Amino acid sequence: MTRTPLMAGNWKMNLDHLEAISLVQKLALTLKDLKHDYATTEAAVIVPFTDIRSVQTLVESEEFEIGYGAQDVSIHDKGAFTGEISTGMLTKLGCTYVVVGHSERREYHGETSELVGKKAKKVLDAGMTPIMCCGEALDVRKAANQVDFVLGQIEEMLAGLTAEEVAKSVIAYEPIWAIGTGEVATPEDAQEVCGAIRVKVGELYDDATAQAVRIQYGGSVKSSNVKDIMAQPDVDGALVGGASLDATEFAKIVTFL
Ligand code: G3H
Repeated sequence: MTRTPLMAGNWKMNLDHLEAISLVQKLALTLKDLKHDYATTEAAVIVPFTDIRSVQTLVESEEFEIGYGAQDVSIHDKGAFTGEISTGMLTKLGCTYVVVGHSERREYHGETSELVGKKAKKVLDAGMTPIMCCGEALDVRKAANQVDFVLGQIEEMLAGLTAEEVAKSVIAYEPIWAIGTGEVATPEDAQEVCGAIRVKVGELYDDATAQAVRIQYGGSVKSSNVKDIMAQPDVDGALVGGASLDATEFAKIVTFL
């Protein structure tokens, strides 16, 4: 089973819709200069809700091969849910990816793995791909409990998903202590947990599902460390925060330069 790597830039709460257009334009041109083959590695930007329409217009009018998506979604379809955005709204804007359960959503908005699983199900039902985040805090890592902790999250997140749904999904392993800190996990650290996730998916479902699901690493990924991380057998891409705000740097990450 060959898995196409996915490099996704999570802009978090950065870049207004004008800055978004400028970055995506520059990213597409840089990738063109680098002769990037999108069939070899997918590139996507995960943008604030307010940027999606602008990114859609640009990507569709210029026929850029860059995917795009949102950083969260509601589990509800419509109604009195002030501040929420539905999967239907996102599909109408051409989104292909939705990040669910990022550690910042878990920390600041109390999201649980159970809720993250429900969000992933809504995203799949709408025909989009969820990027389901998991990862341990520093105290868990210091206690050498990272594998058990993350596998616990995985079991809860995947509880309501079928094998077919999991095979189409993306799981992002992001150790919280490595996010935005410059403290990158070693390639071996990344492989240890990503490999354990794949084994767990095999136990919960079957080998075909385990071989199909894409597993990303996230946490201080840069052009200087991406190659070693991507050399790991169970790492199928990266979820990139800070470094994705610079088009040239993100283009280098996408092409693993
Ligand atoms: O979603 C992205 C991650 O939180 C990683 O962020 O690359 O700034 O460490 P970072």
